[in-house]
Amino acid sequence: MTIDIKYIDKFIDVTSKAALASSYLIGKKDKNAADKAAVDSMRSQLNKMNIQGEIVIGEGELDEAPMLYIGEKVGTNNGPVFDIAVDPLEGTNFAANNLPGALSVIALAEKGCLFSAPETYMEKIATRVKEKNVVDLDYTIKQNIHNLSDFLNKNPENLTACILDRPRHKNIIDKLRGLRVNLKLITDGDVSGAMLVTEEKYNVDIFLGIGGGPEGVLAATALDAYNCSFQGRFLFETDEDKQRAKKMGINNFTKKYELSEIVSGDSIFCATGITSGDLVKGIEIHNNEFISETLVTHKSSGLKKVIKLKQNL
Ligand code: FBP
Repeated sequence: MTIDIKYIDKFIDVTSKAALASSYLIGKKDKNAADKAAVDSMRSQLNKMNIQGEIVIGEGELDEAPMLYIGEKVGTNNGPVFDIAVDPLEGTNFAANNLPGALSVIALAEKGCLFSAPETYMEKIATRVKEKNVVDLDYTIKQNIHNLSDFLNKNPENLTACILDRPRHKNIIDKLRGLRVNLKLITDGDVSGAMLVTEEKYNVDIFLGIGGGPEGVLAATALDAYNCSFQGRFLFETDEDKQRAKKMGINNFTKKYELSEIVSGDSIFCATGITSGDLVKGIEIHNNEFISETLVTHKSSGLKKVIKLKQNL
């Protein structure tokens, strides 16, 4: 089964309107308000659609998020059944501080085809090399870099690794520096960070490190459409984390998930720019119109492109 192509435009509309709503709060130093604007808009757009949607990745679990929580049903309950992952504002600091890279993101797949990830950290690795046993979460940094360097026929000093700039990554960063790999250190936004491996023009060969689990599932959907590789392993630190995971059907707390276990079958992914970044430009408002850029993928049709739209306010 494939997802009808007509849903591409409908979901672009959802993320572009959510991006617009959040764009009014760019640079206001209020990340919660910027997030809420995107969440409210996305939820009301989704609820107008003739779909039977279930949020599998959202703003949190029911006890912590009143809107777009994991398990919430969206749509008119009339139409195809979709699993939906949302991050209405990915990069809350970027929007609040008027920095590049804030996005409004959605991904959807057919029922049962998108992983429902708990709100916890995930260890991730991604490259555009699809072949198995080149990079792997179970390999050392040195082994991954040497394998990638051999496979791409590039010396390690010509490889670039993207990683969140966090103290928890000191060890990985030191090892990459020791191997003379170039670094692209990002301050936030690892959906976009992971997606920089999709095309050579971004000049990133490998994305790795620990970031949000929900962001991992969203990035994996786009990486799947680009035929890239991705692996993720959730990090359940506390007993409470483990209890929550169990409720979502996760019993093996150290399992390494392959891309095909995170997303399968057909999918649509849309990421609209709120502020301009590596992937897309941010929202522009001119008189009574706004211009949005959305990076969209549709797995079954092979669509992977940035769509620029001019819409009335
Ligand atoms: P928010 O948009 O929720 O602020 O998340 C931004 C982000 O950078 C994600 O892209 C990333 O997965 C996560 O935060 C990393 O978490 P932490 O800041 O705790 O390292």
